[in-house]
Amino acid sequence: MKISRVLVVGSLNIDMVLKIDRMPETGENLFARDFSMLPGGKGNNQAIACARLGLMVYMIGKIGDDDFGARLRMNLEQENVDFSFVTRQSLTHSGLAFIFIDQYGENRIIVAPGANMKLGVGDLENASQLFETCEFLILQLEVPHDVVKKAIQHAHDYGVKVILNPAPAQSFPVEILGENDFITPNQYEAEVLSGVRIRTLDDAVKAVKVLDERCAARKVITLGEKGALASDQKNRFLHLFPRQIDVQDTTAAGDAFNAGLAFGLSTGMDWISTLQLANNAGAIACTRVGAQSALPYMRDIKNFSSTHGEGEFRYVDL
Ligand code: RIB
Repeated sequence: MKISRVLVVGSLNIDMVLKIDRMPETGENLFARDFSMLPGGKGNNQAIACARLGLMVYMIGKIGDDDFGARLRMNLEQENVDFSFVTRQSLTHSGLAFIFIDQYGENRIIVAPGANMKLGVGDLENASQLFETCEFLILQLEVPHDVVKKAIQHAHDYGVKVILNPAPAQSFPVEILGENDFITPNQYEAEVLSGVRIRTLDDAVKAVKVLDERCAARKVITLGEKGALASDQKNRFLHLFPRQIDVQDTTAAGDAFNAGLAFGLSTGMDWISTLQLANNAGAIACTRVGAQSALPYMRDIKNFSSTHGEGEFRYVDL
C-alpha cells in the first residue's frame, strides 16, 4: 500500500479534562470526580489520528513560548508527526481547552486559543514545500479564517485536495471549496452553515441540499447517535447507521472520523468503504475517555470491524 502524505493546518491545545456530575449553578462550588491534562486541539488530534492510521503527516501550527508548547511538540514527535512548521509565538500562551464531561459522556468545551490565533498567512508561505508534496490538506476552524482560506487557495494551486472539518461551529465561506474537496460538519456545524435546524435524517438531507447550492465539495454530516449522512459523486445520499457501542466520552470522535476519511481517500479506497472506516474510527473514539487517548490505531479499527462488522448503510430515498 502506498503511504500517502497529508498536511494538517490547525490548532494545538492542552486539554484540561474534568469529569463532573453536573455543571455548577452561578455562585456554586463543586468537586470534580476526576482531572487529567492531555495534548489536544482539533488540528493536533487529527494529525495524530492520521499518523496512527499509517499516513505520513505534516503539521503547520503555533504554540506558545511555554512548557505546554514544549509538551505539545514532544508529543507530536512521539506520535510520528512532522512538526518542523509548528512554531513558537512569544507573548502568548499555548492553546488551552477546558473540557467538562458529564455522567452521560457528553462534553462541553471552552477553548482559550492563545497562540493558535497567531497563526498567519506568512506561516503557510514559509511551509509552501509541504503543499507541493502532500496529497490532502486537512483543516478545521480553530485558527484564523484568513489562514484557512489561504490554505485552501494554496491547496487548489498545487492540486491538493481539501478536507474541511468546520469545527467548532461558526459561519465560513464554504463557496471557496471545489468539487474535489470534502466538508465534514457535525449536526450543529451543519445547522450553522446551512441555516437548517437538524432533528431528523430528512433535516440533514435538507441541510446538505442547501449546502449543495453554496459549494461543490462532497458533504458528510456526522450525526452522533443517528450515524452519518454523506453525498456521493452521483448526488445520492448515503446514511451510515450508528454503531452499537457503549459511549464513554464523545470528545475527539469527529477528529477520529476525519482521519479515517483522510486515510480512505488518500489511499484510494472506494467511497463507501472510506465512510465505513471513518464511522468506525469515530465510534471507537466514543468508547474511550479523552481526546488523543481515544484516537484509534489501524489495528483497533481492524479488530472493531472483525467483531462488529464494517457497518450498515442505505441510500436515502428523496
Ligand atoms: O475535537 C476535540 C478537541 O476540541 C479537544 O482536544 C479540544 O482541544 C478542542 O479543541
